[in-house]
Amino acid sequence: MLRDLGLEHQKIREMLEVLSVMAEAAAEGAPPPPKELESLVEFFGVYLERFHHGKEEELLFPALNQTGRVDQGGPYCGLFMDYWITRNPIPEIEARVARAGIGPVGPTEGVREILGQVNCMRIPLQEHAAGHACLEVLRGISRAHSGGGEFPKADFSAAVRLYCELLHLHIRKEDECLFVLAASALGDEKLALLSEREGAIRRRIGEQMITSALDTAEALSRKYRKSR
Ligand SMILES: [Fe+2]
Ligand SMILES: [Fe+2]
Repeated sequence: MLRDLGLEHQKIREMLEVLSVMAEAAAEGAPPPPKELESLVEFFGVYLERFHHGKEEELLFPALNQTGRVDQGGPYCGLFMDYWITRNPIPEIEARVARAGIGPVGPTEGVREILGQVNCMRIPLQEHAAGHACLEVLRGISRAHSGGGEFPKADFSAAVRLYCELLHLHIRKEDECLFVLAASALGDEKLALLSEREGAIRRRIGEQMITSALDTAEALSRKYRKSR
């Protein structure tokens, strides 16, 4: 399970790179084709939020929470704490959501269910919720762009910067800290049992939707990524 989540992180990172390249081009006066931005936002909605976060929020985090091996607030990770103490992005994300006229944005259903409980995974869950708010800003920009409005390049690049910063750090923290802890706290047997439950999440989203998100990723990657 942890290996799959790590591979998914790689795919998500690649699409963050695409998003950054789009923002650079937009800043120089070349906004992304509306359909491409739309499908990239769709990728993050389906593959990152419903599929990847679905597995973390419904399977991994609750299992970790039950081990009692995780400190209150999530694994204490210096890299991560520094960022939140010196540069908490949530007020800026909330301001952007409000300015885009689409707020308030609540967390996704999965996060909502467990965020209110006494939960050791509270900090990673809040990061998922902040990422979701950021994605909604990008979705709003994408919709307006498809509707033919003037492209808000400054708002776009600010939202992309926040989204990328937040997700890169979140992913790094999971890869280097949370998943390492999960491997020792849960062990192979429990992790294998969690993997078996992944099918229900796949069925709920629909195999076709997941495949289509991955096809989108492949096409955008071919066109935009410099480091392929
Ligand atoms: Fe996560
Ligand atoms: Fe993750």
